[in-house]
Amino acid sequence: EETGKSGYDHYMLKEIHEQPRALRQCLRGRVDEMAGTVDIEDLGDLSPTGVQFVACGTSYHAALYGAQLFREAGIPAQAFLASEYATSVPPIGDALVVGVTQSGETADTLSALRAARKRGARTMTVTNVVGSTAARECDHAFYIRAGPEIGVAASKTFSSQQVALNLLALGMTNTGDVREIITALRELPGNVQRVLDESVAEDVAEVYEDAGAYFFIGRGYQYPVALEGALKMKEITYKHAEGFASGELKHGPLALVTENTPVFAVVTGDGEQARKTVGNVKEVEARDAPVVAISDGQSDVDRYADHVLELPETHPRAAAVLANTHLQLVSYHVANLLGRNIDKPRNLAKSVTVE
Ligand code: AGP
Repeated sequence: EETGKSGYDHYMLKEIHEQPRALRQCLRGRVDEMAGTVDIEDLGDLSPTGVQFVACGTSYHAALYGAQLFREAGIPAQAFLASEYATSVPPIGDALVVGVTQSGETADTLSALRAARKRGARTMTVTNVVGSTAARECDHAFYIRAGPEIGVAASKTFSSQQVALNLLALGMTNTGDVREIITALRELPGNVQRVLDESVAEDVAEVYEDAGAYFFIGRGYQYPVALEGALKMKEITYKHAEGFASGELKHGPLALVTENTPVFAVVTGDGEQARKTVGNVKEVEARDAPVVAISDGQSDVDRYADHVLELPETHPRAAAVLANTHLQLVSYHVANLLGRNIDKPRNLAKSVTVE
């Protein structure tokens, strides 16, 4: 049953719990773990020399993540807010312009894609909706196959976008630690289920439901996750929340940090990025801010945290999906405790068809 609440209090909670299935659907028939390859041949030979992503809101956060994947594979890639791109189109050269849009109907994204097409660019959409305007107007469509999403706040479509963008980046470039990433993607539905089953997000929400503001920090793949964590919190709780690149905290936002502003820090791996983010965590801890670490236990961030939302050890790209799952649950439970209209937050629409 795709459209009822299936016993959940809200569509959003149902959709958060549908993520393992959504991700399996996204992967189905597209990866060959034995051969270590990704098959997106139905898209034809794209081999782009550059990629420009255009998107809004949550989809923009997925686009920021996607751009990193392509850059890591050696392809210049940037994510643009569609509303900015549409009115100030950058030089495109022979880049592929990719509109990431769950609905395929977001006016700003359609407008950016049209502006790119007008300049002769090849366009693609990464979308959930077959037959949507974006799918019809673009040269190529790559479907995330998340199934219908009713809650205004995007949840399963974001994680499906993350997985779809991994598939696109691997399929178009076939470089990097392909086999390792494919394994991590195949393990992802099971790992998301583990997070759903074991997350202590509800306990954390109970502790911080009255907080003055919520901050989210992360680096690399975890930076878009921090932005998304904050957007979700704002949308469904109506509380002040901001996401920052960890390194930016000291350039201003640190002035906002107090004992009444919990800081959610996404830290994965034990490399330089983790070490630096732990340094930023120490800075907020020294200002008495409560720290919630979303951590795979590889760094020593847990030592400075008041609470830990645990991640299974996996590739950092996959960890970004898992960390987001914890943060979806935190926002959901804060909103629920506050009695918000979770599936239809005030002032918002599922599909924004005006510019
Ligand atoms: C997400 O929770 C929001 N509802 C919103 O930011 C949304 O992601 C944005 O409007 C873009 O929608 P799209 O993916 O359908 O283009």
